Amino acid sequence: MGKPIIAGNWKMHGSLGSITQLLTAMVSSNLNPKAWESSEIIVFPPSLYISHAKDLLKGVNWYVGAQNLSNFEQGAYTGETAASMLRDIGCSHVLVGHSERRHIIGESNELIAQKYSMALSHKLLPILCIGETLEEREAGETESIIAKQLKSVLDLPNGAAALNKGIIAYEPVWAIGTGLSAKAKDANATHSYIRNWFSKNSVDESTPIIYGGSVTPDNASEIASSSDIDGVLVGGASLDPNKFLEIIQCIS
Ligand code: PGA
Repeated sequence: MGKPIIAGNWKMHGSLGSITQLLTAMVSSNLNPKAWESSEIIVFPPSLYISHAKDLLKGVNWYVGAQNLSNFEQGAYTGETAASMLRDIGCSHVLVGHSERRHIIGESNELIAQKYSMALSHKLLPILCIGETLEEREAGETESIIAKQLKSVLDLPNGAAALNKGIIAYEPVWAIGTGLSAKAKDANATHSYIRNWFSKNSVDESTPIIYGGSVTPDNASEIASSSDIDGVLVGGASLDPNKFLEIIQCIS
């Protein structure tokens, strides 16, 4: 396994002022510099503030990613943001298929697979978010839902190779923003299901799989030390400099 991945998804929160405060507080903290070097840290501001975040993080080895991208190259697609534009302003990563985009905006598995492929063709590292709703979990459908979400990317031309190049974020929908994190052992069981699925489908088993859904300083270290969990995707707690730094500290 490589370095643990610690990603902060700020969703549609923030302003020039609050982002300046948040990142200044984080980078000027007296956190042991070893903690920063021994993990891979990525923040995902709203697209409009990516350049601002990059400026504030000059000299710090954190990555800045986007929360979404267009499935089109460029052209008459009002309001969309092209992968090439995200690269142009220095993004390295992009979230694809976050549950809020699947369930609130209505993105389908097929659209998400197109976005995943578009990200790779512009050398953005996609983080494919997958996960079941509470109803699906209660109906015993967790594995079949996840398999379907993964298969839409596997079905791309060279799909297995495409999955090898990305990161998977397992985020049970019922755990996102609810304070109801999955138990480390349950999350780990789903991660090992995903790893088995990889091996059955010619995907490299070492492709990173991170967990997201109500990660806090209280549960981060137990979750991240589970055998099949390679890091965390943090929403709410990534907007609080102390909490995010504590998460980095306890995982690194
Ligand atoms: P949460 O969000 O940590 O606030 O639950 C996680 C996410 O949406 O990625």
